[in-house]
Amino acid sequence: MNPFGRFDDSKREYVITRPDTPLPWLNYLGQDEFFGLCTNTAGGYTFWKDAKMRRLTRYRYNNVPYDLGGRYIYVNDGGSVWNPGWKPVKAKLDSYECRHGLGYTRIIGKKKGLEVEMLFFVPPGENLELWKVTVRNKSKTKKQPKIFTFQEFCLFDAANDMNNLQRTYSIGEVEIEGSAIYHKTEYRERRNHYTLFACTRPIDGYDTSRDAFVGIHEGLHDPKVPFAGKCTKSKAFGWNPIGAHQINLKLLPGQEETISFVLAYVDQGKEPKYDKLYVMNKKVGKAIVDKYSKPGAVDAAFANLGKVWMDLLSNFQAKSPNAHANRMLNVWNQYQCMATFNMSRSASMYETGIGRGMGFRDSNQDLLGFVHMIPSRARERILDIAATQLSDGTCFHQYQPLTKEGNAEIGGDFYDDHLWLVLSTCAYIKETGDVSILQAPCAYADQPDAKTDLLHHLEVSMAYTMKKRGPHGLPLIGHADWNDCLNLNCFSTEPNESFQCAGDVKGSNAESVMIAGLFLYASREMAALYDFLGHAADATRMRQGYDEMLNVIETQAWDGEWYRRAYDAAGTPVGSKENPEGKIFIESQGWCVLGGAGQNNGRAKQAMESVHKHLFTKNGVVLQQPPYSTYHVELGEVTSYPPGVKENAGIFCHNNTWINLGWCLLGDGDRALEYYLSICPSAKENQIETYRSEPYVYAQMIAGKDAVCFGEAKNSWLTGTAAWTFVSVAEGILGIKADYKGLSVNPCIPKAWKGFTATRKFRGVEYQIEVKNPNKICKGVKSVTVDGKKVAGNVIPFETGKKVVKVEITLEA
Ligand code: BGC
Ligand code: NOJ
Repeated sequence: MNPFGRFDDSKREYVITRPDTPLPWLNYLGQDEFFGLCTNTAGGYTFWKDAKMRRLTRYRYNNVPYDLGGRYIYVNDGGSVWNPGWKPVKAKLDSYECRHGLGYTRIIGKKKGLEVEMLFFVPPGENLELWKVTVRNKSKTKKQPKIFTFQEFCLFDAANDMNNLQRTYSIGEVEIEGSAIYHKTEYRERRNHYTLFACTRPIDGYDTSRDAFVGIHEGLHDPKVPFAGKCTKSKAFGWNPIGAHQINLKLLPGQEETISFVLAYVDQGKEPKYDKLYVMNKKVGKAIVDKYSKPGAVDAAFANLGKVWMDLLSNFQAKSPNAHANRMLNVWNQYQCMATFNMSRSASMYETGIGRGMGFRDSNQDLLGFVHMIPSRARERILDIAATQLSDGTCFHQYQPLTKEGNAEIGGDFYDDHLWLVLSTCAYIKETGDVSILQAPCAYADQPDAKTDLLHHLEVSMAYTMKKRGPHGLPLIGHADWNDCLNLNCFSTEPNESFQCAGDVKGSNAESVMIAGLFLYASREMAALYDFLGHAADATRMRQGYDEMLNVIETQAWDGEWYRRAYDAAGTPVGSKENPEGKIFIESQGWCVLGGAGQNNGRAKQAMESVHKHLFTKNGVVLQQPPYSTYHVELGEVTSYPPGVKENAGIFCHNNTWINLGWCLLGDGDRALEYYLSICPSAKENQIETYRSEPYVYAQMIAGKDAVCFGEAKNSWLTGTAAWTFVSVAEGILGIKADYKGLSVNPCIPKAWKGFTATRKFRGVEYQIEVKNPNKICKGVKSVTVDGKKVAGNVIPFETGKKVVKVEITLEA
């Protein structure tokens, strides 16, 4: 079906069987603080914590070909030079296979009876990457292959590394000792860290100068040294430091050898910096190499990685009648949620690691798909994000992971940002019951000494939206809301200006219906939180705010068949039948419905039917219709894109999930699944030449029906789609949701499903859930049976003393 690969569900791997995939297909190594990007041809790079400020190896984005540079092994087998991952030499291989797994990538290439397997991974809790390289002689004759490694070092600050060549060409420094290469640029002055690239056994040569190893006029596809078959012992002095080892092997027929390499970020800590002038004290680095030089150490680390992922995923596992939903939910979607949690929008094939750091709204949303895996990390993240809020309620739109400091480089005054903090905090408390987070000290970015706590931030957030409203009583939009490209205060006529930074929001009256809907949702969350805390008056106050905003939405935002999207700075509606283009938008339908608007007057259903009629396609729901054909200075970036892509009527998968949740709320499980499958990458394997992106992770965008390339996906991996799809399937369709007083189960499934089973670990208890659907309905839980005993309603109360609880549910109309 898919000529490029297939899922191996039992191994939780995606197997790529041809290297020339329609786009580079990426995997991530690392789950804690040390990360690597690794494509199916071993391309990518490595960084510690922060892809901008601690980049360890180099990568040139938007290269030709796209993906060039990475963890390369060159094989010289009797003069024939090739890479097991095909690139960069691109010699024809007799066989190739890449297995992207959870935190690791294994690539096996074979040519003329020699097989080379490369396994790359980051051991849990370590600041290093291991390469296990196995060379097998599968021929009938003796072979003497030479193996060369290659990594180009980045001089740590990735932006400077690219654009300040007059300096960087002169500062590169390395040391070589034994089988280890130490990249120590800038160590002599202000850095207390270096990159170590070591082989765990004796080597037959090395190079540390790119000019020597690759050449000046050569490229990575024809580098001098591997073709010559001999390293030159070059010592980088300025220019471009690299790490290359040479290993000469002698393999009898059937014989194999394994060689391991360590690529580490080494913090010198309290150790003295130097042994003597120009000679680094290498104690910390040597200890790392020693650790992984012990027999079995690399294999043990790899086994541990598998166990860590088994444990993480065991918090939620389900078996439904739909194979796509199962493999995505049980493995790949949760895996992607780890990546978005760790990386936000910083480093992928589309995010260069120097542009966006951790996004305020992004990271709050990413947490929704992650909190059930490692709640303690979610707690820390919430407090980090909240600390980048300003005391008036607005937020730094992003912060740098290394320093945790907010910056306004990609703009500020996005008037939805602060509300997402309510959603993440409530999700965390529901998952853990840990209300102490609300009292955790948390200052404001502009008042670092303020003795405030997290709850104060939530209150300030709610108050901000309540207060900052426009002529229709709707919340002001600022530079943009969730839709970064709907810039109603920008009025940009300068080609080199960022739409998100230009323009002045002060005194503007542009309003957002989406923020109003999100506010409804957040108010309900706050009210329920206060109920749980026993603060009745506060809960009532939140409900009053809710009622007020609901009234505004119903009186000011209904367009006749759907909810309008916004009012621009001149008070003209956006997303209305009055507009010639951009008549209906997805976001306001999603959030008004999820916030509870239109529930008693039939509008919710009507808005959703309008989505179905005007926006739904077989490849997902387009963001709006009809697309803008010309640039509108009063609407901003959304009108800058060609019709059918990105925010101009592309299929923005992220917001599709809100509609899916809307169908669940309305009880239509058939539509919920149909919509889900329309953007599900696993379900795109039968149209992979069109879809092009990885079939195992969600993409931010699929080209919409107005685009020439309808169905083509882009911007995979780092997207809010990951967390929200998890929410829409686990909590929406399967209906399993952490709640303050217990685990709530309220599925909304397709009528044809006979039922499903799921395991959910929640606050130390494992719930084994079985849902039966003998009546062929979508939704309806009247009672649940917990270990044989009936419980009214659909919330399973906490069991004390039991580690495993059996839950049975029969759906009844
Ligand atoms: C970018 C857009 C992008 C938007 C949302 C803007 O800064 O220019 O391309 O779609 O942010 O991420
Ligand atoms: C991607 C951004 O990271 C996210 O914050 C935004 O909401 C969407 N694009 C939509 O514009």
